[in-house]
Amino acid sequence: MSIFSRRKSIDSITNNRTDEQLKPSLHWPHLVALGVGAIVGTGIYTLTGIGAGLAGPAVIISFAIAGLVSACAALAYAEMATMMPAAGSAYTYSYVAMGEPIAWFVGWSLILEYTVVCAAVSVGWSAYAAGVITYWHIPLPAMLLAGPSAGGLINVPAIVISLAVAALLAAGTRESATVNFFLVLVKLSALAVFIALTLPAFDAAHFHPFMPYGWSTLTADGSKLGVLPAASLIFFAFYGFDTISTAAEEAHNPGRDLSIGIVGSMVLCTLIYMAVAAAAIGALPAHEISKSAEPLALILRTLHHPFWATVVAGAAIVALPTVVMVFMYGQSRIFFVMARDRLLPAGLAKVSARTGTPVAVTIFTGVVAAVIAGWAPLKLIAELANAGTLCAFVAVALSMILLRLRDPKRQRVFSVPLWWLVGPAAIAGCLYLFWSLPGLTQHLFFIWNGVGILVYLGYGMRKSLLARAG
Ligand code: ALA
Repeated sequence: MSIFSRRKSIDSITNNRTDEQLKPSLHWPHLVALGVGAIVGTGIYTLTGIGAGLAGPAVIISFAIAGLVSACAALAYAEMATMMPAAGSAYTYSYVAMGEPIAWFVGWSLILEYTVVCAAVSVGWSAYAAGVITYWHIPLPAMLLAGPSAGGLINVPAIVISLAVAALLAAGTRESATVNFFLVLVKLSALAVFIALTLPAFDAAHFHPFMPYGWSTLTADGSKLGVLPAASLIFFAFYGFDTISTAAEEAHNPGRDLSIGIVGSMVLCTLIYMAVAAAAIGALPAHEISKSAEPLALILRTLHHPFWATVVAGAAIVALPTVVMVFMYGQSRIFFVMARDRLLPAGLAKVSARTGTPVAVTIFTGVVAAVIAGWAPLKLIAELANAGTLCAFVAVALSMILLRLRDPKRQRVFSVPLWWLVGPAAIAGCLYLFWSLPGLTQHLFFIWNGVGILVYLGYGMRKSLLARAG
């Protein structure tokens, strides 16, 4: 059979060997916490500064655009995840809707997304950790606190946090999800404190000129400035809800738990985000914010709240690892599902009998993320992660549309309202954001997928379970 006709049926995807099945141990509060834990992170805590530098005060519009595109994609995810409550998210949905080669392409992009997100968030975390290390005069050489692009030699804190999270996850899913739940509360409380302290200092004058670089401007050195390039970076701050669907197989009551988990965490975080962004710009001019690797702490210090600046930095230090945790969790499950389908070596699908988690792939993900985090520049890796995510979002929206057309009568636990509008809007929005990414990011994305095609042709195409079935 042609590789393009290798498609899974919706009914078949939850039938797996028992030693290759994950335990159904998560309820909806765990899933909302998993989503919020993944969404609120380095995006709002760190990239808000870089975004303000790219767009000026109009970064607020960038937040709105990225949030709207993400919300459309979130709805498609909710429909797909409740229809196919099996691990693998965009990869699994694409396998059913569009066949194996596309599914491979999406899975390979997800590997890029999840691993690079873990690295990017570790770098964002290390900026706040370095601030506290310096503040407390802990004798660590500055060159060990940042990567080469940020004036250092190697980012040791970022490496340490990536490896520590991998070890925690390898110890067992259930404990990690519960720890995540409490850390999410810490993170949200810190943002509430930030809003409460900055709103009284709100100055409308900070919003003039509102769009100094317009929608999109190409500078002499080839870099992109403006609202849309900022939106394609800030997009990083919005995703994370998609990791919930990678845990679909472990949800207790998938229909209810996943709908509440995905849509609920998306709406909650978008609202919090808009409030934080407005408060930040109102408190301090955009060009001031853009200079800092720890902008929220900078703003509070500038407003003469040094104690609260340390509290917010402390909350980021304690809680940003939850973001790494959620993405690393999602990553290990993507590897796991692709290996279970034999598109990757079967050994990667082995689940530990004691913890019920795929230990080897979790550790592998942690090591790769640590290597990237130790040396790579934050803006580049955040945008690279965005490229992989945008690809996955397009695939999910497309899968949702195709299955609506092909199988309209199938019962849907969650149905996207106005699917014929929301689906194409998600696809168009994601493609537009991808187009707004820097040229280098786009090239790296295509190189990564070029390698992926070679791996598929050399391995997965022959070893795939569906190849044997055919
Ligand atoms: N949305 C996540 C963050 O901002 C990836 O850290």
